[in-house]
Amino acid sequence: MILLKKINFLLLIFILFRCSTDQSNQKNSLEVPIKSPFSGIDTISTNDWWNRMPNPIIDINVKRENVLAFGIYTISNNTLKLTAQLFPLYPYETREVRLEIYKNKKWVEIQKKKVNDLGWATTFRIENWDSSKNIKYRLLHGEKASFEGLIRKDPIDKNEIILAAFSCNSNKDRGDRENYVKNINHIDPDLLFFAGDQSYDHQEHTAAWLKFGIQFRDIFRERPCITIPDDHDIGQGNLWGENGKIASSPAGNDGGYYYHHEYVKMVERAQTSHLPDPYDNTPIEQGINVYYTNLVLGGIDFAILEDRKFKSGPKGKIPQQGPRPDHIRNPNYDPKSIDVEGLTLLGNRQLDFLENWANNHKGISMKSVLSQTGFCGGAHLHGSKENRLHADMDSNGWPQTGRNKALKLIKKANAVHIGGDQHIATVIQHGIENYEDGPWAFVVPAIVNNYYSRWWWPENEKAGVNSNINLPWTGRYLDGFNNKITMQAYANPDSNSNGAGYGIIKFKKDTKNVTFECWPRYVDVKKENATQFTGWPVTISLN
Ligand SMILES: [Fe+2]
Repeated sequence: MILLKKINFLLLIFILFRCSTDQSNQKNSLEVPIKSPFSGIDTISTNDWWNRMPNPIIDINVKRENVLAFGIYTISNNTLKLTAQLFPLYPYETREVRLEIYKNKKWVEIQKKKVNDLGWATTFRIENWDSSKNIKYRLLHGEKASFEGLIRKDPIDKNEIILAAFSCNSNKDRGDRENYVKNINHIDPDLLFFAGDQSYDHQEHTAAWLKFGIQFRDIFRERPCITIPDDHDIGQGNLWGENGKIASSPAGNDGGYYYHHEYVKMVERAQTSHLPDPYDNTPIEQGINVYYTNLVLGGIDFAILEDRKFKSGPKGKIPQQGPRPDHIRNPNYDPKSIDVEGLTLLGNRQLDFLENWANNHKGISMKSVLSQTGFCGGAHLHGSKENRLHADMDSNGWPQTGRNKALKLIKKANAVHIGGDQHIATVIQHGIENYEDGPWAFVVPAIVNNYYSRWWWPENEKAGVNSNINLPWTGRYLDGFNNKITMQAYANPDSNSNGAGYGIIKFKKDTKNVTFECWPRYVDVKKENATQFTGWPVTISLN
């Protein structure tokens, strides 16, 4: 009897001990269900992620009720595309995410999807979506985790459609983005566009994307949002994708992608799966996918381009004009010498799409092209005031022939171009053959502008022909590739908020006017005396 009691007691101790150490043992001895095909990248969020030390980006080991980080969606042609983004899951947790909508005063499940262990996301695609009403949705995982948002109705009845545009979410500031959230929710745009560099943590996209989502989810929780990755998102300083070949260095200047193609695919999956279906989904080299497409919202047709993916890398293809193959420092070089036959900017596939898109006006009131960067060199000083570059081949100003082909089609579509990347906001009217015969373009400022800022600073410090009175150096100029440009407004880093902020683009359907607004990061738009960067707003006519 005593022996039995003793055994029971020991058993109890054993069970208690097991319970207390159960979780940590379970975690330490877990089998990784899906091993990443790459190594040394995305380590925070892949394989036995729970064994990582704390990192400076984000705590990914969240309470399980918070494991559903966010939902992000677009809707076009009555098809909803909604990506559910989760924090990393333990091997023993379900991969299933449920989508419910609120209908007839109750939540109704409409689809289940399985999360991908690479990137921890999944995308719902629902056809025949009723775009005529606001519909609440929620994403659910397991017993506890949920994320609730709103699929907005198509604002077809509104005369003015508002787009808010952002770029370059530098990791020099890892804090929250509360000024953006407050101001954008007050402005209440119909659509959001993040033009690239949502992540600057080159080798840790998933952690950085989760961080971006937590920073901005309260502006895209209740409205559609376009995100397209740029060079830093896929881990490179610059990207000349060259149809998906392998680049020989992370600088990427010989063309292609440096990191493992499954990493690149994971980044694009996270950022673009929720866009409308691609125009032509044929993959490029290494099986990397494409996402260029269009999205119609409220009668405005937005073409979403990938201006990096097909572009030729400069190294070895053109005569080098300085220490770097992509920088031209010699102002006396011959710009024609680098516009070599056979170089690509958008690529034939994408030009075909753009041509097709330009010709289609059915049910469309106005058009806009969205892409990563601007179609000219729109800055002189790069990174510091001492670093004057004559031309930077990272911009779409090069190759000039490809630039002009793209601009002709954007003009043909009667569209305005919106881009980012440059870390300086500008409004420029492009010239193709002659000054002012091309489309208007608004390159929006960086979200955080304490990293590699740029200045518009003509060497002669003189205004061009057709200048305006708002800023000293406006009017007609040639960029470093001899492209004709007319500068209308620029926000140098010496401006309010270091030149950081966002663009607001208002499309007025009755007058066919487009107004470009440019707001500094730290201005409270609710205040009566709130002012934009000097030089804005700019209103142009598409009549
Ligand atoms: Fe950037």
